[in-house]
Amino acid sequence: MLTLMLYVALTAAPMYVANASAMIFGGKTPLDGGKHFWDGKPLLGKGKTWKGTLMGILTGTFAGLLIWNFFPEQALLLTPYYPSYSFLLALGAIAGDIVGSFLKRRMDIERGKQAPLLDQLDFVIGGLVLGLVYFQPDIIQVLVLALITPLVHSLANRLAFTLKLKNVPW
Ligand code: CTP
Ligand code: MG
Repeated sequence: MLTLMLYVALTAAPMYVANASAMIFGGKTPLDGGKHFWDGKPLLGKGKTWKGTLMGILTGTFAGLLIWNFFPEQALLLTPYYPSYSFLLALGAIAGDIVGSFLKRRMDIERGKQAPLLDQLDFVIGGLVLGLVYFQPDIIQVLVLALITPLVHSLANRLAFTLKLKNVPW
């Protein structure tokens, strides 16, 4: 039986790992090549880099492969395509975060400045949307993820700040 907590763990792991490793491995070369949008503001800004993007997708997918290796029976309860599902969760998380930055720039919020809820949820929304290919969660499952994620996100970012991985505690 796929319990709520099992769903959350199997789905959150690739997305959270993707998001965290984008931060840990974040490089220098910006994804947007320093380009500006029609409004004259940065397209994405310096917080989205090639290295962070690629490492996020790879590491998030790898987290899924580890789960598939060590907990195949549990993963099978969600989908028989869990490795591909993990890849889409990681890709979607990274893409959702990039869309989030695009929207922040359009709203005149500078790179690194806070956008409550958008900062915490953009990557989960992206991951869940791409993940729909393999698993269609019900409303309760989505709500639980949407409630847990901002908590984990703020704790993780505070930790990253303390470890000097981030310049700001959010
Ligand atoms: N990062 C990256 N590539 C990505 C996502 C994140 O290199 N695709 C790295 C960047 O070093 C970034 C850090 O992870 O600064 C934290 O990510 P995030 O909080 O999403 O970026 P911000 O710097 O806050 O920028 P933004 O305002 O655009 O969200
Ligand atoms: Mg940020």
